[in-house]
Amino acid sequence: MRVAIVGDPVEHSLSPVMQNAAFASGGLKWEMIRVRVPAGGGADVINRVRAGDFAGLAVTMPLKEEAARSVDDLDAASTRLRSVNTVVGIGSGHARGLSSDGAGFVNSLSAQGIALTGARVHLLGAGGAARSIVAALGAIDGCEVTISNRTHSAAEAAAELSGSAQAVVADNLPDAVASADIIVNTTSVGMGSDADAGLVPLPVELIASHHVVADIVYHPLTTALLSSAAIRGAQTVDGLGMLVHQAVLQCEAWTGFTPDPVAMRSAAEAELGRRSG
Ligand code: ATR
Repeated sequence: MRVAIVGDPVEHSLSPVMQNAAFASGGLKWEMIRVRVPAGGGADVINRVRAGDFAGLAVTMPLKEEAARSVDDLDAASTRLRSVNTVVGIGSGHARGLSSDGAGFVNSLSAQGIALTGARVHLLGAGGAARSIVAALGAIDGCEVTISNRTHSAAEAAAELSGSAQAVVADNLPDAVASADIIVNTTSVGMGSDADAGLVPLPVELIASHHVVADIVYHPLTTALLSSAAIRGAQTVDGLGMLVHQAVLQCEAWTGFTPDPVAMRSAAEAELGRRSG
């Protein structure tokens, strides 16, 4: 069986290395290939799932919203987000859309022993990744979410995805962070060349030892935010956690097999090592 990672660009996606490691670990005769599909090609590639050409898809930029409009049905998270990162062919020409990012984030924290029930979470950023996290946290008992973003209107829109989320303006950031248990960077600040400049998405003086600080940036794996947080005594969660755990859920949705996240993470780390070496 064959699945594809679709979007544009897809050359640098870690999905094939993680999924192919997962399939091999389960002794499954499945493979993931990369298919570059620019904006506008979502409906056609989903037709290839209906036709049985692919058993499923991992969907990345810029197709997530287009794919959500093209599938036959959506799970609860995708219905709220109007975006999917996973498509599953379920026979009789039917394609179902799912969103595994938010649940993947939640599972990545659980895997490190971090409970979200009753937790106060502050999200930095309000893009697609933040929106999927807000929707997932909204389903957790007593989890209260605050959101700040460079563009405040996007924070307000993201907050609408959960009854227990609130957008906060920049002036109120220090208070929101002080009363949070968990701080999550969902912005791209700290990624790639930002790392050399030591860019961080909030003033690091706001981080204290009672915080858990999670970054969804994984290039580099230890962002300037995470190293500052560790120096300040906070527990840290790197961005590969969410990537790996959302991939576990995708593999499960396509094949029914639950792969070991540790094996998938090792495959992703080895690939990142090869690229930087
Ligand atoms: P993703 O799918 O990874 O969430 P995205 O939807 O493009 O990516 O969202 C990027 C997020 O990073 C947004 O919250 C964006 O803020 P704006 O809504 O104001 O654009 C945030 N972001 C990107 N560059 C930033 C920067 N230099 N400073 C602060 N926030 C930044």
